[in-house]
Amino acid sequence: MIEKAVNYIKQFVTGEFETGIICGSGLGSLGEKVENPVCVDYGDIPGFPVSTAPGHKGRFIFGTLSGRKVVCMQGRVHLYEGYPAGDVVMPIRVMKSLGVKNLIVTNAAGGINESFAVGDIMLITDHINFTGVNCLVGKNDDRFGVRFPDMTYAYSPALAEKAASCAGGLGMRLKKGVYIGCIGPSYETPAEIRAFRTLGADAVGMSTVQEVIAANHCSMSVLGFSLICNKAAGISGERLTEEEVLETGRLKAEEMQKLIIKITGEL
Ligand code: HPA
Repeated sequence: MIEKAVNYIKQFVTGEFETGIICGSGLGSLGEKVENPVCVDYGDIPGFPVSTAPGHKGRFIFGTLSGRKVVCMQGRVHLYEGYPAGDVVMPIRVMKSLGVKNLIVTNAAGGINESFAVGDIMLITDHINFTGVNCLVGKNDDRFGVRFPDMTYAYSPALAEKAASCAGGLGMRLKKGVYIGCIGPSYETPAEIRAFRTLGADAVGMSTVQEVIAANHCSMSVLGFSLICNKAAGISGERLTEEEVLETGRLKAEEMQKLIIKITGEL
């Protein structure tokens, strides 16, 4: 399946794309900054999962950003859409086959850490996979990686350091913390949020963890950012809405883009 998808894409693009960028909810407009873009819709790629989530377009954009060849995913697929974990990470393996070595993942998240404000950008230092599944379950594909991949440095400390220095250069203050990935699609209960805080999580969302597992499996270096779009359930007493999440994405998209563009130039 991966080979078929890669061969299809190679009709439109040539060469290696060193950096892959996954745009989370409301953050897809980064794709518009890619120069000399070549767009490939997920729906046209044989066997490729198609995103049905709001705020997700569903296409690859190949081109250059800060002079580097990049592949940008405008939209991703989630477990809550009903896709098995193996399908959720198919794009990671396709990107690996197209030369991606560094993966920048972004997502919209709820802030569990009470010192976080809506609109903060959190550099992901580590994650907790609370989805109950793992994309590597089943026969191991040795062409991509080992049976029991190490996750000690799932989020590359070297890339995190670069990101912190780029943010400093732009006068931005990054928060740092642990992302907990849930299956969704319901938001969490206040009791779950209290439990997650006890577990050591700072932000919660419904994506990213499977992609980061697959990326580590195939030896990519990962950099991750969560945009804190709302306070997690029970913190403010307000109800959570998808509109708030997408609106924060729109408001902060420009800042997030600036940061990612600068980092890409330094990879
Ligand atoms: N919970 C889970 N996923 C999310 C949230 C949240 O509070 N905000 C944005 N994505």
